[in-house]
Amino acid sequence: MSKIPALKAEGAHFNIVDKEKFLKGIDLIKDSISCKGATLWNSDNMILWNKNYSMLRDSKYLEYLDSPETNKMAKAIIWRTYVLDFLLKKSLKVEGDVLELGVLAGDTAYYLSQKFAESFKERRYYLIDLFKWEQGDAHVEIKKLLQPDLFQEVRDRFKNYNFVEVTQGNVVKVLPTLKLNNISFAHIDLNNAEPESFCLEYLTPRMSKGGCIVLDDYGWWGYSEQKVALDEIANKYNLDILELPTGQGVIFF
Ligand SMILES: C[S@@+](CC[C@H](N)C(=O)[O-])C[C@H]1O[C@@H](n2cnc3c(N)ncnc32)[C@H](O)[C@@H]1O
Repeated sequence: MSKIPALKAEGAHFNIVDKEKFLKGIDLIKDSISCKGATLWNSDNMILWNKNYSMLRDSKYLEYLDSPETNKMAKAIIWRTYVLDFLLKKSLKVEGDVLELGVLAGDTAYYLSQKFAESFKERRYYLIDLFKWEQGDAHVEIKKLLQPDLFQEVRDRFKNYNFVEVTQGNVVKVLPTLKLNNISFAHIDLNNAEPESFCLEYLTPRMSKGGCIVLDDYGWWGYSEQKVALDEIANKYNLDILELPTGQGVIFF
């Protein structure tokens, strides 16, 4: 049988200190592999080759990647979005609300809200974030957090999705105020070990059977503190965390 067409991807990475050397390295890799780069995935700190990249063969993803509304970072992390999309779809088969803890501009949540709007008739999608960063704050400074009207911008972005509830505040304070009976899916993406640990510990007893939590920072060496803290909680509750090459950690309940 003849092979399916070769696909490649190129997007942004993190933690590169010498871009020139890195690009030379990529050229050397291309030269040294049989496809000569025709199947090279070069994005989001993943360099892969000779893979199929199923999401790049799906018209919905191609539309998303082509859209002028999809920013450079959202394009770079497309494999992470594909993982979230797949696991949310499965989790929506069980009862319970959906949460994103760490939202920023809402790029990921917006994609998922659009795609799964029909499945949110009987459940809420809670989006919680500080939506700001001030000198001395423990969470990572991200340029977007310096925008004074970020909270309002995110609220406006989701105004046509009445199942979405956007709340500004520290997850540690906000989570206990929500009337959550059970949770089918949660995406924890705070870039900060302490509130992430709180979230995992708080959510674990409230997860529906068949539900899932995705930990965005779990597999990133730069966020080792998160791995150590989250593993401790996983051990306490006898949970297994699956580390993916995207840097995500997945827990099935
Ligand atoms: C990497 S961004 C989230 C990106 C988003 N999940 C996406 O996919 O587009 C991390 C976010 O976590 C938020 N954050 C960090 N610590 C927090 C806390 N204790 N409570 C609420 N939000 C927090 C930050 O304000 C920041 O917007």
